[in-house]
Amino acid sequence: MKATAVAHANIALVKYWGKRSEAAILPEAASLSIALDRLRTTTTVELGPAADSLELDGAPADPARARAVLDAAGIHDRARIVSRNDFPTGAGLASSASGFAALATAACAAAGLRRTPQELSALARRGSGSASRSVAGGWAVWEGETARQVLPPEHWDLRFCVALCAAGPKSTGSRDAMRISRDTSPYHRAWIEQCRRDLPRALHMLSARDLPGLGDLAEKNALRMHADMLASDPPLLYWEPATVGCLQALRDLRRAGTQAWVTIDAGPHVVAICAPPDAKQVETLLRGVSGVKDVLVCAPAGGARVLP
Ligand code: PMV
Repeated sequence: MKATAVAHANIALVKYWGKRSEAAILPEAASLSIALDRLRTTTTVELGPAADSLELDGAPADPARARAVLDAAGIHDRARIVSRNDFPTGAGLASSASGFAALATAACAAAGLRRTPQELSALARRGSGSASRSVAGGWAVWEGETARQVLPPEHWDLRFCVALCAAGPKSTGSRDAMRISRDTSPYHRAWIEQCRRDLPRALHMLSARDLPGLGDLAEKNALRMHADMLASDPPLLYWEPATVGCLQALRDLRRAGTQAWVTIDAGPHVVAICAPPDAKQVETLLRGVSGVKDVLVCAPAGGARVLP
C-alpha cells in the first residue's frame, strides 16, 4: 500500500496553450516536449490513513488536485502523499508536470493497479495537462487523452539551459490563464492553427536532428504563444526584465555564430536550446544577464518510473 516514483519536468517545443474541454483537460492542439534530467520530482504515496494529506518539499499543501487524480484512477482509499523536488520549488518551474506524473505512477503502484504508460499519462493529465508528457518522458507528443514517447531521450543529446529570471511563483496559474486567452485573445484561433502546422514540421526536424530548424521553430512557437497571452484581456504578461535580457543576449550570440534558441513557458524563465559543446558558453552568457538568479543545464531524460 506504499510506493515511490520519480518523474522529470518537461519543456515543450510546440506548446500547449488552450483546452477544448476544461472538465476533461483535453488540448485544442497537440504538443511536443522533451523531459529534463535535472528537474526531477520524487513522490511517495501511502494508502490507508484516515484523511488525505500532501507534503510538498516539507510543507503541508492542499491535496485537492491530487485527489482528482486518485479518483480518476479508481483509488478511493485516503492517501498520504510526500513529494520532493530536486530543483527550486515555487520558482515557477514546471513542477506540476513532474509532480502529477510521479503521483499518478506512485499511486497506481501503491494500489497494486497495473497501468500502461498511456493509461498513466491520461491519469496524470487530470492533475495538469503537461504532466501527461512527463509520464511518457523523452521526446513526447501529447494528443487528445494521452501522451506517448515518440523518440527516446538518447535520440538526440541536446542541452537545455534553464535561466531563472525571478524568485517567486508566477502571477496567474496556467489553468485560469489558458481560459482567459481562449475566451478573450483575438489571436487565439491563429495560435492554435499555428501549433497544428508546427507539430508535423517539428517532428520531421526532430527525426532529422536539425537543430537550426527545430530551434527556430520552437523559439517562434513560444513567442507566438506569448503574443496570444499578451493579447488576452486582462493581458497575461509573464516576462521580467531578465527574460528580455536573456532573449537579447541569445539573439546577439546567434548573430555572432553560436547556435542557440529560446523557449519560455507561462512564466519568466528562459530555456536556451543548444548542442552540448556550446552549453558552457550559453550558461556563462545567461549567468551574466542582469537579474538572472541561477542557470540549470539539463539533458534529455526518460519517463516516470517506480523506484524499487
Ligand atoms: O500543464 P499546465 O496546465 O501547467 O500548462 C502548461 C502550459 C505551458 O507550460 C505554458 C506549455 C506547455 O506545453 O507545457
